[in-house]
Amino acid sequence: MLPESFLQELKERSDIEQMVSSYVHLKRSGRRLVGLCPFHSEKSPSFTVFPDSQSFYCFGCGAGGDVITFLMKAENLEYLEAVKLLAQRAGMTLPEDAADDRMAKLKTRILEINRESARFFYHQLTTPEGREGLDYLVGRGLSVKTIRRFGLGYAPNSWDTLGNYLRGKGYRQEELIAAAVVGRGRSSGTYDLFRHRVMFPIIDLRGNVIAFGGRALTDQGPKYLNSSDTPVFKKSRNLFAMNIAKNTKEKSLILAEGYMDVIAIHQGGFDNCVATLGTALTAEQARIMSQYAQEVIVAYDSDAAGQKAAARAINIFGELGTKVRVLKVQDAKDPDEYIKKFGPERFKRLLEGASNAIEHSINRIREKYDLTTADGRVSFLKEFAQYIPQVQNPIERDVYISKIADELSVSKEALTAQVQNNIKRQANSRRRSERRDLRVYSEVQPGHKPNPERSQNIHYALAEDKLIALLCKHPDYYPFIQARIRPEQFVTSQNREIFSLLMERLGEGKSIELIHLSGELSGDQLSWLTWLITSNEGLLTQKEQAQEYIDTILSHGTVKTPEQAAQLSPEQWQEYMNALKAKKN
Ligand code: GTP
Ligand code: MN
Repeated sequence: MLPESFLQELKERSDIEQMVSSYVHLKRSGRRLVGLCPFHSEKSPSFTVFPDSQSFYCFGCGAGGDVITFLMKAENLEYLEAVKLLAQRAGMTLPEDAADDRMAKLKTRILEINRESARFFYHQLTTPEGREGLDYLVGRGLSVKTIRRFGLGYAPNSWDTLGNYLRGKGYRQEELIAAAVVGRGRSSGTYDLFRHRVMFPIIDLRGNVIAFGGRALTDQGPKYLNSSDTPVFKKSRNLFAMNIAKNTKEKSLILAEGYMDVIAIHQGGFDNCVATLGTALTAEQARIMSQYAQEVIVAYDSDAAGQKAAARAINIFGELGTKVRVLKVQDAKDPDEYIKKFGPERFKRLLEGASNAIEHSINRIREKYDLTTADGRVSFLKEFAQYIPQVQNPIERDVYISKIADELSVSKEALTAQVQNNIKRQANSRRRSERRDLRVYSEVQPGHKPNPERSQNIHYALAEDKLIALLCKHPDYYPFIQARIRPEQFVTSQNREIFSLLMERLGEGKSIELIHLSGELSGDQLSWLTWLITSNEGLLTQKEQAQEYIDTILSHGTVKTPEQAAQLSPEQWQEYMNALKAKKN
């Protein structure tokens, strides 16, 4: 536990506005500041900083908290790491015992284990047993230079060679398991997770080996195996080969589907290619790519799954405002095969001819219909007129309307009228759904799943919300509130847990400012509390209001049928009577 005085000083020296500004472009809006959320992709700003309470909240994704929480999320840090970093910036030193940061130590160990493992796998390629792996890689057309450049390797067909090797180097069992290079065996031992596979190390932007992908040499088992998430690795925010591609001189990045595609493309002379790690593209990955490139070329497999994934990727980059083009890999199933069949020169021309996102989408619609029939043409035009309103720029829209009208020999005026009609209709339906959203606003925290317990008790939940918000504004009401309500009497568990912690701290004379809570509440709880505080900013804060909220909460369960009352335990009965009394007073 960090001393309160330390956190207090840290808070005074770490202005949230200043901290957030180095990540987000903020604009003032009254007493608040708003900007585009760094934690989810959005076009209009819903990320809000509240200098008064030194907190932030995103009305889009529900992320919220104080300056420590922000740094934890922005830099993917543990609580103590974030505190340490803040303290450094503020020119403060961490009190002694807290500096003993176990998690940071474990992360260092895991990175060492990963590096040792990568060396081990690479070395295997030169052994008789690893011959099979080397032959496989060479058989797939990779040069020795490429193998070295990507640090590829081979995991032997054995249950414990790597585990034993690493234990011999002094790494403990728990550390090996945490690094996800071995699994916990049924009895006491461990077993190697990667066996009989060629290995692809995944390296972060700082050059750390953070995880592995492994491809099977036979048809047995899953074709690819990827490390699970560990303290140093999050699948959703890393990209294969980004460590190399980030240094490219090209203005664009190529996004491929698989490890082998990336490697073949690099070997073909294009050093700007990356891939996700066996999962669909996430907004986080798209944001990372957008930081390094003005444009992204999606080079997914030519099959239906690949094309569907490409459409998804277009949307994700579109939301970030990043230019996207899409490669059409013809007569080959993926870029790897294409380069092998036709060579890098033709791949280069393919890249140059990649269509932009709008053309690509129109092509995909066109492919669905038979344009030689009147029916097919009508259906195509209908779907085109549904799609094109998504293009925001009217000039751009006009260009495509002209082009399609021309192509199908229909009147441009008629097509434009149809499109305008759809634009109006779509805007109306958007307005309707926004109004609907607004109605449930008070029930659901934006960006979070609806909570049934809360919805069923919304009348009480709203009173609890306000009581908590009021208490945060007025910790000096503690004795008043403490004399009138106990946490157990809260109706919804989400609020009860938070209220309970606040009251406990106040009872011990501790502060309940956000900065002191970020070490004690979970991320979800903290973001919920921030939401309560910020969405109740204009709350009246007299004691009468506190009394009113308390009365509302206590009125829960006071209306009981005689049958219900008869079934109460003595404690519940007492509680019930107290509640009735409180209501009468
Ligand atoms: P090769 O057959 O080696 O050429 O593979 P590929 O790169 O063409 O792979 P494919 O198109 O089948 O899959 C693309 C990517 O999806 C791979 O690079 C993996 O990251 C992932 N993937 C494929 N198969 C599996 C699997 O069985 N399990 C998991 N977790 N991921 C897979
Ligand atoms: Mn392939």
